[in-house]
Amino acid sequence: MAKVLLVYFSHGGNTRKMAEALKKSVEAGGVAVELKKVADCDPASMRDYDGVLLGSPCYFGVMAADMKSFIDRSIVLFGKGELMGKPAGVFASTGGIGGGGELTMISMIAGLLIHGMVVQGSRKGGHFGPLAIGEPDERVMGELQLYGAQFAGLVKKLAA
Ligand SMILES: Cc1cc2nc3c(=O)[nH]c(=O)nc-3n(C[C@H](O)[C@H](O)[C@H](O)COP(=O)(O)O)c2cc1C
Repeated sequence: MAKVLLVYFSHGGNTRKMAEALKKSVEAGGVAVELKKVADCDPASMRDYDGVLLGSPCYFGVMAADMKSFIDRSIVLFGKGELMGKPAGVFASTGGIGGGGELTMISMIAGLLIHGMVVQGSRKGGHFGPLAIGEPDERVMGELQLYGAQFAGLVKKLAA
């Protein structure tokens, strides 16, 4: 069975709730998920998975520093292109509309694209990935369900 690494940073629990819901929806799509706090995850371990999902709150308009540090330390995988062609996706939690939620996701996506990863976008809802304002509500839970199903489909296609 294909397996995905889902890494998140969360101080207040909003991004963690999103991560837990996303784990369930990817698993419902037939792909195993390992859920890890960013503090407990070695970036080099991304090489061992068929796909990677990253989640962060919006801090001062972009991803939290812990997540940026995780991406910066993934440089160890860059030289040999170890993440090339792997599926990836992002999600974020923000404090308010216009607070930088999209920039938070785009800043994470930039790191993933630079590794040559294939990023899952979305036609419906948040185009760059699921985005919550504060605590994830029913709308966000629906987006996480849809995004997880799409991501599981992409992982299975590329892992085949
Ligand atoms: C240091 C810090 C910076 C923040 N900066 C922003 C910001 O620029 N824009 C915004 O909309 N919310 C901002 N917030 C609010 C968080 O993005 C929001 O509360 C989020 O849901 C927190 O996620 P968590 O519960 O997973 O920690 C900030 C919060 C903190 C603690």
